[in-house]
Amino acid sequence: MAQRYAPVSDKISGFMHGADYNPDQWQHDPRVLEEDIRLMKLAGCNVMAVGIFAWAAIEPEEGEFRFEWLDRVLERFAANGIYAWLATPSGARPAWMSERYPEVLRVNEQRVRNLHGHRHNHCYSSPVYREKVAIMNGKLAERYAHHPAVVGWHISNEYGGECHCDYCQQAFREWLKARYGSLEALNAAWWTSFWAHTYTSWTQVESPSPRGENMVHGQNLDWRRFVTDRTAEFCRHEIAAVRPYNPDLPVTTNLMDWFEGLDYRKFADLVDVVSWDAYPKWHGRRDDSAEAAWFAFNHDLFRSLKDKPFLLMESTPSLTNWQPVSKLKKPGMHKLSSLQAVAHGSDSVQYFQWRKSRGSSEKLHGAVVDHVGHEHTRVFGDVAELGETLRRLAAVAGTGVNARAAILTDWDNRWAVKDSQGPRNAGVHYEETVMEHYRALWSLGIQVDIIGSEEDRDLSRYDLIAAPMMYLCRASAGERLERFVESGGTLVATYWSGIVDEYDRCHLGGFPGPLRRTLGIWSEEIDGLYDEERNALVPVEGNALGLTETYASRDLCELVHLEGAEALATYRDDFYAGRPALTVNALGAGRAYYLATRADTALLDRLYARLAGDLSLPRALETDLPQGVTAHVRTDGETDYVFVENYSGEARTVKLDGRAYRDGETGAAVAGDELALERNGVRVLVRSAR
Ligand code: GLA
Ligand code: ZN
Repeated sequence: MAQRYAPVSDKISGFMHGADYNPDQWQHDPRVLEEDIRLMKLAGCNVMAVGIFAWAAIEPEEGEFRFEWLDRVLERFAANGIYAWLATPSGARPAWMSERYPEVLRVNEQRVRNLHGHRHNHCYSSPVYREKVAIMNGKLAERYAHHPAVVGWHISNEYGGECHCDYCQQAFREWLKARYGSLEALNAAWWTSFWAHTYTSWTQVESPSPRGENMVHGQNLDWRRFVTDRTAEFCRHEIAAVRPYNPDLPVTTNLMDWFEGLDYRKFADLVDVVSWDAYPKWHGRRDDSAEAAWFAFNHDLFRSLKDKPFLLMESTPSLTNWQPVSKLKKPGMHKLSSLQAVAHGSDSVQYFQWRKSRGSSEKLHGAVVDHVGHEHTRVFGDVAELGETLRRLAAVAGTGVNARAAILTDWDNRWAVKDSQGPRNAGVHYEETVMEHYRALWSLGIQVDIIGSEEDRDLSRYDLIAAPMMYLCRASAGERLERFVESGGTLVATYWSGIVDEYDRCHLGGFPGPLRRTLGIWSEEIDGLYDEERNALVPVEGNALGLTETYASRDLCELVHLEGAEALATYRDDFYAGRPALTVNALGAGRAYYLATRADTALLDRLYARLAGDLSLPRALETDLPQGVTAHVRTDGETDYVFVENYSGEARTVKLDGRAYRDGETGAAVAGDELALERNGVRVLVRSAR
């Protein structure tokens, strides 16, 4: 596992550093390209993502293709050592296409067809759109697939959304037929005998709509799965149009942070490298830890998709123009934010955008090159400095991350648990709960993979798996987790797990269904708490975790019976006071913990610190990190690169752990046993991995 991964492209060694670039907006002034190239070199940039929204510039009229401008851009790049992620422009269509072929436009869930405009406003099923995309991608590939400046394909841009047109309804029915084989099987899976919803012909089945059916949970769930499959299939269609021209050219598509609309695990096999777009809202509060933990989780998620380094395809060099309040990055934050991605496995730092557009909706979005036009800006300085940092850290590119802990979260579980209607329609706080578990590990500086239950991934490489609120739990997932525990793993599960199967039908015979034996409990009931209501967990005397404090709990309280597990803490209040609230079950060589209620994060911190110690989970630094500081390691098995990151909003001092360190940027030995971190400071330390 500790190894060096091949670079994404042989053409670039070390990190990719660059931005989305739209020379198509500046064709009227050829001096801009020349000036941009001068500035790119000055900023230490070696790669640009080109052509993302350039359809109208490439095909201004149907069948009339203009490549001269793109030829020139790529030629000038090649002559200057700058490379391009060449985009397929399917993220937005030219107006002529929508006008001539209205079927390319999306139909919303109200069954109303959209007008032309925005972007991503197209149907993934429309035969015309598919044909036009195949022609466009094929022409681009025919011309540029062997171009010396091109390092890979940037397929479309941030796929997302859904279409409810007749083509998509038909495709949904075909998808269901393939999945269920018969209407009987579909009716059984969706439990349609409820409210007389039984379907007697395939033509009766439609996508969910607020004007029609949206209360059949199994149907809602299958629609979301279908949307993922349809979108992935569209992506495959795009890739199939470029691949044959140069099968060695890597392919990626840029993803979004823990995007709810698509199960990204279905995209992992389509692309050669995972890339994603990160837009933290820094400086929201004095302490940026919560924001940092969310983005750390995402970096870990995207690394885990292919279990290898990924690319940070977009980030802003300064501010966005779409967050509620557009904050500038304070001094230090550009480097900290960029190196955070690197610490978790990114082999690139790329931005949206290179040059601010002059008009339209993103004219005020941050960019490397401002409207003022020259390099004498604070932001350009930050970017150029980062270019230099990345050059000095080049050896880090291609190294991996060794995680022995994992957080388990499935997209279909996330969809189902939020669609469940009860026990807390005021919010079950699924994502927040997952983050609370993740953050406890993050604060300790423990490396974490983010995995799903269906992966072929071998669970035995983990010592600890946390699976918060695994409401939708397939029998197969339950079996895998049971084997994981039996063979020595530690599982942390919580309330509202093992409730439904993959069709969103409740498990019969006692919750948590497929996890019941593993956890050694039966969960009989679950109580919803009002927002302001609290219960608490009181430690059982002499409990195996050594808990001594009482911890508050909220949202949901399950009433469980012990079936082999032992109670570590019990409820303090209500008619279930004294009943188990935290349990552990010994099974085979492992242990399975169960939190029956949403405990205060202080308990999670305590629990994971204790488990990390018991399991000897390696921490990036074997030291107690101050609040708001964390550390992460990349390694090739020989050399460790330790990133020490300060999100506390204040200067901090970190005690080192006695090992010998060099500074990753200067190579100088780190003297003393303390590391001073400025506000928003980050240091990269190098040590021998052995
Ligand atoms: C997304 C898009 C970009 C741009 C940025 C702005 O990530 O992919 O085209 O709109 O947001 O932050
Ligand atoms: Zn459609």
